[in-house]
Amino acid sequence: GLPARVRIHEVGPRDGLQNEPRTVPTEVKAEFIRRLADAGLTTIEATSFVHPKWVPQLADAEQLFPLVAEVPADLPVLVPNERGLDRALALGARRVAVFASATESFAKANLNRTADEALAMFEPVVTRAKDTGAHVRGYVSMCFGDPWEGAVPLEQVVRVCRALVDMGCDELSLGDTIGVATPGHVTALLTALNEAGVATARLGVHFHDTYGQALANTLAALRHGVTTVDASAGGLGGCPYAKSATGNLATEDLVWMLHGLGIDTGVDLGRLTATSVWMASRLGRPSPSRTVRALSHQ
Ligand code: HMG
Ligand code: MG
Repeated sequence: GLPARVRIHEVGPRDGLQNEPRTVPTEVKAEFIRRLADAGLTTIEATSFVHPKWVPQLADAEQLFPLVAEVPADLPVLVPNERGLDRALALGARRVAVFASATESFAKANLNRTADEALAMFEPVVTRAKDTGAHVRGYVSMCFGDPWEGAVPLEQVVRVCRALVDMGCDELSLGDTIGVATPGHVTALLTALNEAGVATARLGVHFHDTYGQALANTLAALRHGVTTVDASAGGLGGCPYAKSATGNLATEDLVWMLHGLGIDTGVDLGRLTATSVWMASRLGRPSPSRTVRALSHQ
């Protein structure tokens, strides 16, 4: 069966904008987040407290976060290390996310660490965040394939997921960073995680749409019992440290499918589409989302 309701974890302001060549003004980012909340999204990943040289597009996290603090939504932020956590907690962040890698190549490219060194870096972050009562998400990138290493063995993904759960992460997000997964692979990974003692209730999915498989993969995950799905308004995004990563699954495409299946999301698709059209005009190019294009004559 399928769930009655899905919680959409909107990543547009973070995963979407982190890769934009054109610098988006802080006030435009704040307006984007306000409009997303207005469209009914209740979890909106706002920004990252990472090194500003690594992700210049999000270097304004200190200026942005206070502008959106009153927005009626949960606003998780990415924190790679204790320095990032300190910055986020100083501004009152209540939800943080660490981001691990299932492969060595991406751990090096994204975090300048081996996969295990990265996990060691997250340990005090998760412990301290939990001590303050914050909610902690653990991303795992390259869960299906890696641009340098090819197919990623299930055991390698399971090992990193177990480590994050053992550390105290409340929720995991399984990342198909370069969008190569297909539905059977998704089901196999979810099953392997269950067999390793990681409950489906703890798992979210994070698909990029490089090969047009994101919705099919999402449906496979829903059939397995997953109810948290990451998506990016207008299909914005990519990852600056993963060559060939294209945009995330577009939130509008996800909402079209879910509402068609009779699954509740709380999202107003008209308002959301209008937001993505507005953002596309700010970025100077049309949204790649099929649903945005179909609904907006863009
Ligand atoms: P490093 O160069 O190894 O840093 O980078 P370090 O620990 O050696 O520190 C060097 C200097 O950076 C120090 O300053 C630190 O204070 C400073 P110095 O003493 O030399 O003056 N520093 C910081 N400054 C501000 N904020 C911080 C911070 N940390 C250190 N948080 C580091 C290591 C982790 C910092 C770096 O690699 C980094 O920032 N990486 C972030 C990369 C990133 O954000 N990638 C995109 C997000 S992941 C993603 O998109 C995938 C996802 O969507 C899921 C999927 O699709 O798979 C989540
Ligand atoms: Mg991503």
